[in-house]
Amino acid sequence: KTNVETSAYNKLNFYLRQIQSKTDFIPETAIVLGSGLGNFSDKVKKVCIINYSDIEDFPISTNKMHAGRFIFGYIESKPVVLMDGRIHYYEGYSMEQVVTPIRIMKMLGAKNLILTNAAGGIDSDFKPGDLMVITDQITSFVPSPLVGPNIEELGTRFPDMTHVYASDLINKLESIGKKYNLNLRKGVYLQTTGPNYETPSEIRAYKILGANAVGMSTACEAMVAVHCGMKVCGISCITNMAAGITGQPLDDKEVVEVAANVADKLETILYNLVIEM
Ligand code: HPA
Repeated sequence: KTNVETSAYNKLNFYLRQIQSKTDFIPETAIVLGSGLGNFSDKVKKVCIINYSDIEDFPISTNKMHAGRFIFGYIESKPVVLMDGRIHYYEGYSMEQVVTPIRIMKMLGAKNLILTNAAGGIDSDFKPGDLMVITDQITSFVPSPLVGPNIEELGTRFPDMTHVYASDLINKLESIGKKYNLNLRKGVYLQTTGPNYETPSEIRAYKILGANAVGMSTACEAMVAVHCGMKVCGISCITNMAAGITGQPLDDKEVVEVAANVADKLETILYNLVIEM
């Protein structure tokens, strides 16, 4: 093993020890809350909250809208950890730093990962306020978070990405959607670096490539989760139509507003998914 290789894993263990000195909670499912979904934490019987800023050296979100904390607790009898506030590549962190909280949640014991986000709709059948179950992803426009010495303790050098999103979880999400009449969509999520929104020409290109929605997070998290053996699912809140689809300029206020408006629907899905898992 090279020094670098040992140090990436050592660093993760350094964070892990700090968290485990504050709580011995063992989560089964990890949930990443996207923009406007922070209220989901009201549904959790909280056991412990740890701010990222209280973990020495831990990457901290610079986005005021994302609080930046782990919330440990129960949804009914299910032990969960919420990642309330994520770190984005566009903030200037390396991809390795961006995915650090995902790896930490795995090392704390989480076997399942539920990802949520706000995304722009590329599919012309979509409309703002729709929820899309992610069936697959395109990460080719962002650096892979797995570049660098492989962390052997977590997974293999060349991980298979044929089934990033677990088909039984996709099916569960669909049946929850039917039960609650939520009109869920399905599709492929494409990640960009952000922070700029896309041009209409980029969106036309992404559409040809098979993307149904576009966003600035999630796919890199799903990738490392698969690498370290977690079972993954994801839901995008379509907050706006992507650039050029309607001709309207994009506005981050609209993104946050629409996400907040469909938060109830998404919370119903998350709650039911967790208790069925
Ligand atoms: N593009 C990229 N990311 C996004 C968008 C978008 O249109 N909407 C919400 N997040």
